[in-house]
Amino acid sequence: MTKKYALVSGGSRGIGSAICVKLAQMGYSILINYVNNSIEARKTLELVRQTGGDGEILMFDVSKREQVVEAIEAWGKSHPEEYIEVLVNNAGIRSDNVLVFMLEEDWHRVIDITLNGFYNMTQALLQPMLVHKYGRIINLASVSGLKGQPGQTNYSAAKGGLIAATKALAQEVARKQVTVNAVAPGFIETDMTEGLDVAALKKTIPAQRFGTSAEVAELVGFLASPQAGYITGEVISINGGLCT
Ligand SMILES: NC(=O)c1ccc[n+]([C@@H]2O[C@H](COP(=O)([O-])OP(=O)(O)OC[C@H]3O[C@@H](n4cnc5c(N)ncnc54)[C@H](OP(=O)(O)O)[C@@H]3O)[C@@H](O)[C@H]2O)c1
Repeated sequence: MTKKYALVSGGSRGIGSAICVKLAQMGYSILINYVNNSIEARKTLELVRQTGGDGEILMFDVSKREQVVEAIEAWGKSHPEEYIEVLVNNAGIRSDNVLVFMLEEDWHRVIDITLNGFYNMTQALLQPMLVHKYGRIINLASVSGLKGQPGQTNYSAAKGGLIAATKALAQEVARKQVTVNAVAPGFIETDMTEGLDVAALKKTIPAQRFGTSAEVAELVGFLASPQAGYITGEVISINGGLCT
């Protein structure tokens, strides 16, 4: 049987790591991208292998176009007969502050990783999906991109832009059986939410708890599956009932 490949940006930790495991359980060979944390990337690869699957680690910064292109071209040269049929644009950071005090570098870095990262990754992988007439692109947005979050104008703008890009691209590529969707998590327990006032925030969530990375991964796994072929251009919230 020919191998099928899925690439998860920011697959070393948190939600991305859980998505790598889920897609491995679905039979994909996983390309685990990370930027800084090689130890965590290796841990994810070990978890992938524990499912009976396999994968490889690709280190690059999604916001740096030349790094992305170089890594994807090198992978293509070593896999001339194959293509990456699932792309999960998961890499992201937050760098919160009220706008009046927000440093220019914090504005640009958050937008660069989320939005330019989406462009760099998707453009590098889209053409083979179109040629093969099959592909799945899933973007990790956020409740902040739907309703806007005070103290996160940079992050809200980046995620809101990602949602709009999801809807636009979905219409461009639907006739080639490539679907493009976004998931919009609320509060999920990961390094990104460390340091937040969990007790106070839980009171604002109807489910009274943070979500888990595994719960988000299940949703992403469904959107990545052949069964989700008629869902495209959607933003699916996963937030324990937080009103958006
Ligand atoms: N946690 C939440 O409550 C929540 C809610 C809504 C949306 N989200 C979104 O879900 C996604 C995953 O969040 P998370 O909570 O799992 O975050 P996390 O635990 O902080 O992990 C972030 C991941 O992104 C990678 N990354 C960061 N900058 C990168 C870059 N420039 N190039 C490549 N990889 C990069 C990190 O790699 P290293 O390990 O190498 O640093 C890491 O694997 C993000 O897009 C986030 O905005 C999260």
